[in-house]
Amino acid sequence: SAPWINPPCACQPERMSGGSMAMGARSKHHPKSLALRCYCYAASHRSLTLLVWGLAALVVLLNFHLLVTHGKDDQSGRPREIHRAILRELEVVEEERFQVTPARSRRNPRAVRRKGEHTKPLSVVDEFLDESSAVHDMFFPEPRTAIDPVHGGNDSMYFYHPGRVWLDTDGKPIQAHGGGVLYDERTETYFWYGENKDGKTYKAHSKGADRVDIVGVSCYSSKDLWAWKNEGVVLRGEKKNVTHDLHVSNVLERPKVIYNDRTGKYVMWMHIDDANYTKASVGVAVSDSPTGPFSYLYSKRPHDCESRDMTIFKDDNGKAYLIYSSEDNSELHIGQLTDDYLDVTDDMRRFLIAQHREAPSLFKFDGTYYMITSGCTGWAPNTALAHAATSVMGPWETLGSPCVGGNDIFRSTTFFSQSTFVLPLRGLRGSFIFMADRWNPSDLRDSRYVWLPLTVGGVPDEAADYSFMFPLWSRVSIYWHRRWRLPEGWTDS
Ligand SMILES: *[C@@H]1O[C@H](CO)[C@@H](O)[C@H](O)[C@H]1NC(C)=O
Ligand SMILES: *[C@@H]1O[C@H](CO)[C@@H](O)[C@H](O)[C@H]1NC(C)=O
Ligand SMILES: *[C@@H]1O[C@H](CO)[C@@H](O)[C@H](O)[C@H]1NC(C)=O
Repeated sequence: SAPWINPPCACQPERMSGGSMAMGARSKHHPKSLALRCYCYAASHRSLTLLVWGLAALVVLLNFHLLVTHGKDDQSGRPREIHRAILRELEVVEEERFQVTPARSRRNPRAVRRKGEHTKPLSVVDEFLDESSAVHDMFFPEPRTAIDPVHGGNDSMYFYHPGRVWLDTDGKPIQAHGGGVLYDERTETYFWYGENKDGKTYKAHSKGADRVDIVGVSCYSSKDLWAWKNEGVVLRGEKKNVTHDLHVSNVLERPKVIYNDRTGKYVMWMHIDDANYTKASVGVAVSDSPTGPFSYLYSKRPHDCESRDMTIFKDDNGKAYLIYSSEDNSELHIGQLTDDYLDVTDDMRRFLIAQHREAPSLFKFDGTYYMITSGCTGWAPNTALAHAATSVMGPWETLGSPCVGGNDIFRSTTFFSQSTFVLPLRGLRGSFIFMADRWNPSDLRDSRYVWLPLTVGGVPDEAADYSFMFPLWSRVSIYWHRRWRLPEGWTDS
């Protein structure tokens, strides 16, 4: 999220007339397969025979491809059938229908007039962002529907409800926006770090973006990725020293933490900026414990370049990387961190040049690197894209939108959210949790979390690179679910 830049550079979803809406949902099972649709109009015997042989050859080749790409499952010891059954649960395609009624929503007519004689109909995204709209309420359900790990009862156990208020084990809404999750091997615990935005939303000046003063970076711990205990603010905003990077009037976004095996330190990287987003820097903090306190070290412009939305990624071999939006958010940069993770090395590559992507989140599967990014439309949701590379430094290729299910509007808005992190599920090869933020610019502290299953497999929608008829990359799919939970056996332990 860099609300500083506003020209929308990603496709806006189709405009629809406003009005109150109701959602209906239906589910159907779609075992993922290649749907080969053939239309045979008065086919001659000759072409029919050709077609049959062609299809048979295709089936043989596909089986060969599946054998190659899934061969490793057999070595892992986990019976493939069980793994498939578990994945099928996550890969149910769930559809959403909007029912647009002719009546206007309960929007205040005076508010509409004040905003100015809208002759053009409002888009769903406009309504979604407008706190006086019923559409807004639909995507920011009331606190009484909150996910409550303590008082929710056994029937609600482990269910994620994307977009609902999510309470911690003290019964308070989780404040960990733009965050990421660290799995700490030493304590066998997950730590979720994110922006604590528990303050008043305001504009620093009339042309400024909606903002909240820096509170700090929150940390929550969990063993099951569902019930989160508040470990407090592990890096605090600075109240007095106005020249300090963390002074409350500045911006701290997208904190991520990785563990350095050599130094035994937990290292946090974050986006540091001033209220006008002109500083465009990264900040680094360090701690001996995952629960802090973190000591803030410094900020800098990596490779002497602007850096706004960013993330860090630790590879299996212990090398770590910084990925950031640069050059007015028009391109992404990637560079390796030093061995202690406290700085960047000089080597930097530019990619997705002139594509205007932000909110990067990187993950790895089967030796291939994948990334999800969003477009740059401030707090407004837009279309996510998946990218892939055989080397983390690139070249990176775009695979298309990863979103599956919901409906056109859901998919074109990434289910009304923006990517922040992709969390590998230990014990479920090829399965991840896609973590995203549903920003609420009228009250940023009430921004919601959208967690959905992400899987890698199958054939991507768009891919320029093919080898021997088959795409080099697998499809990245994020499945919409109103309510879902991790299948049994998602963790080895
Ligand atoms: C929830 O399940 C646990 C263990 O199965 C049981 O002891 C407890 O009574 C249940 N609680 C409710 C409210 O059903
Ligand atoms: C205020 O912060 C700046 C920048 O971090 C630092 O150089 C300075 O020493 C701090 N001043 C006080 C009084 O702590
Ligand atoms: C941000 O921009 C406004 C208007 O251009 C200016 O008044 C203000 O001083 C700037 N603030 C910072 C922190 O640069």
